[in-house]
Amino acid sequence: MDKVVLAFSGGLDTSVCVKLLQEKYGMEVITACVDVGQPEEEIKKPEESAKTIGSSKHYTIDAKDEFAKDYAFRCVKTNALYEGYPLSTAFARPLIAKKIVEVAEKENATTIAHGCTGKGNDQFRFEATIRSESDLDIVAPIRDYNLTRTEEQDYAREHGIPLPSEKIYSIDENIWGRSIEGGLLENPATAAPEEIYEWTNSTVDAPDEVEIVKIRFVKGEPVCINDEKLDPVSLIRKANEIAGKHGVGRIDMIEDRIIGLKSRENYETPGAILLITAHAALEKLVFSREEIKFAERLSQKYAELVYNGLWNEPLREDLDVVNDHMQKRVNGCVEVRLHKGSLKVITKSSPNALYNEETVSFEDKELIDQREMIGMVKYHDIQGSEYYNVCKKD
Ligand code: ARG
Repeated sequence: MDKVVLAFSGGLDTSVCVKLLQEKYGMEVITACVDVGQPEEEIKKPEESAKTIGSSKHYTIDAKDEFAKDYAFRCVKTNALYEGYPLSTAFARPLIAKKIVEVAEKENATTIAHGCTGKGNDQFRFEATIRSESDLDIVAPIRDYNLTRTEEQDYAREHGIPLPSEKIYSIDENIWGRSIEGGLLENPATAAPEEIYEWTNSTVDAPDEVEIVKIRFVKGEPVCINDEKLDPVSLIRKANEIAGKHGVGRIDMIEDRIIGLKSRENYETPGAILLITAHAALEKLVFSREEIKFAERLSQKYAELVYNGLWNEPLREDLDVVNDHMQKRVNGCVEVRLHKGSLKVITKSSPNALYNEETVSFEDKELIDQREMIGMVKYHDIQGSEYYNVCKKD
């Protein structure tokens, strides 16, 4: 019997997949759950439910450190936002796919399965990575059978699959963020209810007191919060906690999916917003004007590649090489003031700053002799003068 490794989350889609893979595809099913910082019970529960449904072997793979260091921190270093969203789900997909490929190779499986539907982005992201990193076959049972949610529930009941507790929303969570979709949120004319949020206070419940948080960056990566040195996972968690408490990082948006569908998305990404805002402010101090303009374009391109699941597109690596070189100078500290849903960078300092207080000061007359500017200013708009003479005179 062919072996298939199923990326298993314990939710309805992947629970149904276990049985479908056995019944319709005639395969032996091995399940694997990659831990990128889901709530603990979402890691523990699949360990039991996979066996109950019929998985012959279950893997739990802790990839939190790798996710924080090699994925989430790249989001900080590139200030990557897709239409304003810090790509929390998108950054996790290539890593999950990579880990599943490793299991499949170890198990001598012929096939990898995922529980994605045919409407979302994850099918593109998983399959792009699996195809570039292996020659394994890929199957997507929910998509193959064009199943609706109700059909999946019926199938689960008929096949004695314990139905995961009925959820109002479809939630995807990892250390970099929470994404909440579905239910009444599908109508963009309905305001998101307070109940969808778990990491962030509303501005009403946020503390009345202002908090100032200090973040230290080395080579573009955050290393300390309030002078405490933290490993990447702990640092991200701390950033989530501080910014979330002050109601920062709620995003309620209309997003353009890869296939062109518009969807209403809600995110909680307090740490990501805090770290990216602070990092971008530090870049302004150390980058040249040309580098700043370039970094903006790099950021947009990077976000687009990650959103589209093109992690193994060579340009992604090229951009990382260029950016890592630029980030060598992004060292220093940034203080951010948090209060009732707002965040504001209030101080920045760096040993690599191109900002020169002496030159720019109103008191200096040595470094820049103002009189030498007369000629530079005189010809500043030479083309405008020509245009005015040639075209506008009459
Ligand atoms: N739309 C986002 C993305 O494609 C997040 C999707 C997360 N899925 C969910 N069921 N909440 O990256």
